[in-house]
Amino acid sequence: MCGIVGYIGMHKAADFLVDGLSKLEYRGYDSAGIAVLDKGKIRLDKCVGRLENLKRKLGGNMPEGTVGIGHTRWATHGRPSDLNAHPHVAGKFAVVHNGIIENYLKLKEELLAKGHKFISETDTEVVAHLLEDKYEGDFEEAVKQVLRVIRGSYSLAFMCEDEPDMIICTKKDNPLVIGLGEGENFIASDIPAIINETRRTFIMSDGEIATVTPDGVWVQDVNGVPISKKVFIVNWNAEAAEKGGYDHFMLKEINEQPKAIRDTMTGRINAEDQTIHFPELNWTEEEMAEINKIFIVACGTAYHAGIVGKYYLEQLARIPVEVDIASEFRYRSPLVDGNSLTIVISQSGETSDTLAALREAKRLGARTLAVTNVVGSSIAREADQVVYTYAGPEIAVASTKAYITQLLAMLMLSIYIGRLSDTIDKKLARYLVSCLLELPKQVAQTLENTKLIEAQTAHYAQCNDVFFLGRSLDYAVALEGALKLKEISYIHAEAYAAGELKHGTLALIVEGVPVIIIATQEDIYDKTVSNLQEVKAREAEVLAIGFEGDTSLVNYADQVIYIPKTDRYLAPLLTVVPLQLFAYYAALARGCDVDKPRNLAKSVTVE
Ligand code: M6R
Repeated sequence: MCGIVGYIGMHKAADFLVDGLSKLEYRGYDSAGIAVLDKGKIRLDKCVGRLENLKRKLGGNMPEGTVGIGHTRWATHGRPSDLNAHPHVAGKFAVVHNGIIENYLKLKEELLAKGHKFISETDTEVVAHLLEDKYEGDFEEAVKQVLRVIRGSYSLAFMCEDEPDMIICTKKDNPLVIGLGEGENFIASDIPAIINETRRTFIMSDGEIATVTPDGVWVQDVNGVPISKKVFIVNWNAEAAEKGGYDHFMLKEINEQPKAIRDTMTGRINAEDQTIHFPELNWTEEEMAEINKIFIVACGTAYHAGIVGKYYLEQLARIPVEVDIASEFRYRSPLVDGNSLTIVISQSGETSDTLAALREAKRLGARTLAVTNVVGSSIAREADQVVYTYAGPEIAVASTKAYITQLLAMLMLSIYIGRLSDTIDKKLARYLVSCLLELPKQVAQTLENTKLIEAQTAHYAQCNDVFFLGRSLDYAVALEGALKLKEISYIHAEAYAAGELKHGTLALIVEGVPVIIIATQEDIYDKTVSNLQEVKAREAEVLAIGFEGDTSLVNYADQVIYIPKTDRYLAPLLTVVPLQLFAYYAALARGCDVDKPRNLAKSVTVE
């Protein structure tokens, strides 16, 4: 996730670009840059770090030109650096990009063979060179040629020195809005960037190409067929606009999960032959054979993702796994050696305990792998290898979309290792991939039940304690459901492996005590239902979560939330969604500060 802006009109472009980018920093902030057409030439100013750095660099020396594009970056390909910052320039062209160009390596090879020289590690620079390569005097036509060959997800804005009166932009699977002014027009990834300038906007759809001039905007498809767009007037205030119209970042991020899943699968799942690849790992059978134990180390929500990861790795890759809380691991003299792999999971890549645990594992000679959401973070830099989750920046303290992508990364990794080590057959791997391909749609479907969950939550919001139960993978998700509820609603919540209840905690289950029970794992389904009956017999108030088509839960539970049917391995990626919404609406009903819960910080960089 990155932020892009563009301006064409009668004022200094740089003023809008810098201001617009400041409203988009929530989309990425590892580097920023602008390209302005100044006296017919592209002037490029960009640098690593937050927008403040760029502003300092520009100082009083702002470009004068009235046409420009800008970018604030959340790195995907290539670490944050001055050279990797956007815009990228090739010859007469400047480009800004939000998204991932999947086939950039192949395109880069072809361009290298034709003599193009690259200075960055990004996929975006390939687009700039491709445009230069396709250009034969017709800017629009060259853009269309580029769109015919690139694959992936993008919103893109292009500028050309030969055409000082136009910016061309387009999108696929990433947002792009146009703001309409008088004698000036605006381009942005999101409405907050333009709201101070105009409220007349339209939203670009996939495959549309807009040619933006000071006097108008012309939209067509790749074949030149004109498209007429409906203008709408934005009536959100600036704060609501930043949250995409949602009341809180947490709710926005919960709703971004289908996209976060799609982005994390991109380049790793081959939908045609239903296989999984990790080009960034490229492990061999021999290398895998050397690993006899895996340690997963993390904190908080990421630790819960690690527990799910243990089930995946042990069942699919048949390697023994220990999961540790990072603050424990670092001091417990773990029996880590050169034949073990330590996987650290961290959204921010900066959590102090997780970083220390990673260093300890390395000191003991383990191979290390980071699963993180932040390119170039300390953990990403120090681990031997990295698998990135592509959730985009997560602003709310409560982790939601990062967690779901961590589960996805662990499942894809387990299938990948399972195939390498031959512990699962091709048929099962393909079947799981086919289920994964359905997942974004199913998460979106689950999100549609929001109203239902909101209504069911109102009642629970008044309780002092909530118990979460489940077995196997359902237990692992119950842990996350309880943490979510605690941290944002301040309701005391505990998760138990359902079979463990009778060893003590059942004493707390009395009339009216709320219990949320997850029942998706078919191999132990009957046992989970017995546990449900146990708590119901003590007159607990039970909310069950199960698969659509499960007709039995309704006989025992007071209320049931259904999730779309999928394989049991994927169930955690669906059952967590109502739990996140449950926590959100409970916190809302109790008047809590959802995005900034008391005593907590987004990134815990102290021990
Ligand atoms: O950035 P990390 O994933 O390393 O952070 C770990 C935890 O601090 C984090 O998951 C925390 O538990 C969340 N606030 C939970 O929502």
